[in-house]
Amino acid sequence: MQSRQSLYKKKKQKKWPYIVSGSVVGVIIGAVILWVGLNGWDIDKSIAALGIQTETKAPNTDAPEKPSKDTVVEETKPVKEETPVVEQPEIDMSGAKGYEGNEVLPEEPTYVQEVLIASKKYPLPSTYAPGESKEAREAFENMAAEARLSDFELVAFSTYRSFDYQRQLYEKYVNNDGQEAADRYSARPGYSEHQTGLSFDIGEKLFEQHFARESFGETEAGKWIAANAHKYGFIMRFPKDKEKITGYIYEPWHFRYVGVDLATKIFEAETTLEEYLNI
Ligand code: DAL
Ligand code: ZN
Repeated sequence: MQSRQSLYKKKKQKKWPYIVSGSVVGVIIGAVILWVGLNGWDIDKSIAALGIQTETKAPNTDAPEKPSKDTVVEETKPVKEETPVVEQPEIDMSGAKGYEGNEVLPEEPTYVQEVLIASKKYPLPSTYAPGESKEAREAFENMAAEARLSDFELVAFSTYRSFDYQRQLYEKYVNNDGQEAADRYSARPGYSEHQTGLSFDIGEKLFEQHFARESFGETEAGKWIAANAHKYGFIMRFPKDKEKITGYIYEPWHFRYVGVDLATKIFEAETTLEEYLNI
């Protein structure tokens, strides 16, 4: 039979592991509280301060898909707040088809017959920054309301783009596809119609796979807008087989607001802005 004392000893011995592990846990909890407190009670910051990466980097959904020969790439998301670009390397203008003789940005924008022009031939001042045109937005909303009656939910996925934002886009495309290819579908900064605030890239809600793609022209919504945009003052700015005239390949999603009167004339003449204004 065991004596009371040896039983007591046994019990006493069994408590030690609990005391030790309890103390360790206590010290750890205390250290965690202290660390989080030192990092302003910000859990993410505290973890980051330990050098641990907590987020898996999300894929860049803004990045355009690799274009095939019949696929066009353009910004397919609404314009985001821009991060200021401090260091801006000069864009090499040599060998720029369509830009010859127009490499220097002007002090003032060009108007022809009271129409503001932005093209490879008629650039804008880098400082020209009107924002999205209210008149064009209203016309777009009216057109979208009309399209809804035919069950098309139109969305404008890219409208006004500042000089700096266009620069970022263009440089991204040059990095992806090389300058020669990029020049066929993306304007250099200062040469984009998006900088006027009058151009709207239009697609159909829930059909993002056709955003900034030639395939949009084959969709029912694409056909509807091609046939009706002029009634709201928009023209398809870069029609099929007009690259030599407009400077850009077919963009059935890019519409330029010029007002109902001019848009209707250009639509009925089945021509381009360049041809109509003889510029
Ligand atoms: N995609 C048109 C040409 C632009 O970049 O303005
Ligand atoms: Zn566009």
